[in-house]
Amino acid sequence: MLITFEGIDGAGKSTQIKMLAGYLGSQQREVLVLREPGGTEVAEKIRSILLESKGEISPIGELLLFSASRAELVQEVILPAIAAGKIVILDRFFDSTTAYQGYGRGIDFTLLQSIISISTCGIVPDITFYLDIEPGEAMRRKFSKTSIPLSFEHSELDRMERSGAIFFRNVREGYLKMISSNKERFLCIDALLPETTIHRKIIALLHERFPL
Ligand code: TYD
Repeated sequence: MLITFEGIDGAGKSTQIKMLAGYLGSQQREVLVLREPGGTEVAEKIRSILLESKGEISPIGELLLFSASRAELVQEVILPAIAAGKIVILDRFFDSTTAYQGYGRGIDFTLLQSIISISTCGIVPDITFYLDIEPGEAMRRKFSKTSIPLSFEHSELDRMERSGAIFFRNVREGYLKMISSNKERFLCIDALLPETTIHRKIIALLHERFPL
């Protein structure tokens, strides 16, 4: 089984993933938590190129790097884990590519679709939790624990996070469009709710869809 989490940076995915993995573990389920980009030696190297490079990367170069990282993770880790009956929880998958490289960078959707199907070997999540937050609020959360002034261009941010307020607004709108056209797979949750409320909702929605 493949469960994915999506949302703009700062939506709180990692906290919810930890809580869900803990819950499923307590139900004696074998769980594997992974994140994209990364998860294999090569994919981690690609991650650092994508996030830590100081210079520009072209939109197509960026798309191909995310996709190369994904191809490695799918073939080396995800497919074998699913075949072994594990529950794989993935922090971002190809929906991030549609949202960030498609709606954010403006890459043609037909091109995206074919690259996505090659890099994923055609696998699609059983369920996708989207944590919804307004980009300004997500940034405020990120900076709330520091004395650094709030800015989308700050050097503390990674290369993707420095993409600016308009980029993140387009990414969020993209996610919302994707959800409204695929309500079967996507479940949208308000990221501003308290952590434990979100966790309880996730468990309830998961049980509603899949008798685990
Ligand atoms: P990460 O630090 O993992 O961010 P987060 O904690 O928000 O998930 O960085 C991953 C960044 O890469 C994030 O800004 C989203 C972006 N991304 C894409 O643009 N396309 C993709 O296909 C994927 C997987 C991630």
